[in-house]
Amino acid sequence: MKKITKAVFPVAGMGSRFLPATKASPKEMMPIVDKPLIQYAVEEAVAAGITDMVFITGRNKRAIEDHFDKAYELEAELAMRGKDELLRVVREVIPAHINCIYIRQTEALGLGHAVLCARPVIQDEPFAVILADDLIDGETPIVSQMMDVFRQHQCSILGVQDVPREQTRSYGIVDATPLGPDIEQVNAIVEKPEPEDAPSTLAVVGRYILTPRIFYHLEKVQAGAGGEIQLTDGIAALMREEKMLAYRFKGTRYDCGSKLGYLQATVALGLKHPEVRDEFDAYLKGLK
Ligand code: G1P
Repeated sequence: MKKITKAVFPVAGMGSRFLPATKASPKEMMPIVDKPLIQYAVEEAVAAGITDMVFITGRNKRAIEDHFDKAYELEAELAMRGKDELLRVVREVIPAHINCIYIRQTEALGLGHAVLCARPVIQDEPFAVILADDLIDGETPIVSQMMDVFRQHQCSILGVQDVPREQTRSYGIVDATPLGPDIEQVNAIVEKPEPEDAPSTLAVVGRYILTPRIFYHLEKVQAGAGGEIQLTDGIAALMREEKMLAYRFKGTRYDCGSKLGYLQATVALGLKHPEVRDEFDAYLKGLK
């Protein structure tokens, strides 16, 4: 049985929906309460036992590398001032046993191309893909849930949830046959269909477990929706060859690639944050 030890984080996107905030800093570094989006994603992978984090980066993304690097000056300063709690927080950004690997995607050719850039590191192993924009809050982290499904079925798995029909044009949408309460066999997948063309309302959100055969297909995929090399098109080709499952994860997903989703995540996680939750709750209740 193959073990999953690597996760790919495509982080080269422009973040145009958050301009001007993302003019000079990566959208993945935008915080929800006090942690950047990318850290939530990495923590989810760490919780699932993944040890190698492969970031597919681009221009203006240096802050991500700095975030997961050791910050000598900052640590020395905090130590000198006796700020032990903050020192712990800074040191715990990335556990010592985790490897961070950075690959530069020099042209923004699409999500499928970004994943293909990870091939030299992933080679012949199944792996996870995590989109940091999709923050998913679950009692059990979502990648851990998907690993359980993988252990049982040893095939590619797509994290899915139902979306309102008018939103299908924002997602990869699957046509699937239920195999159990949470698991469905994928029969087809299409990228961003118009509501009237969508085969269902079951949308892929940013969590994937893929077999390495995906690379073979991504290399052949032509530019699709939006003129980009789509991961969805690679998955569609892979699905014709190998078993592919859709997994309805247990958790609440926030689309932090949109302003509304980002604000919703901020409120939801603010209400859970031990430092501010009570006051924040009182504040929200006082609003009309
Ligand atoms: C990407 C994928 C899409 C998926 C979505 C999940 O789209 O191409 O299939 O449903 O992520 O968030 P993007 O949001 O990057 O346009």
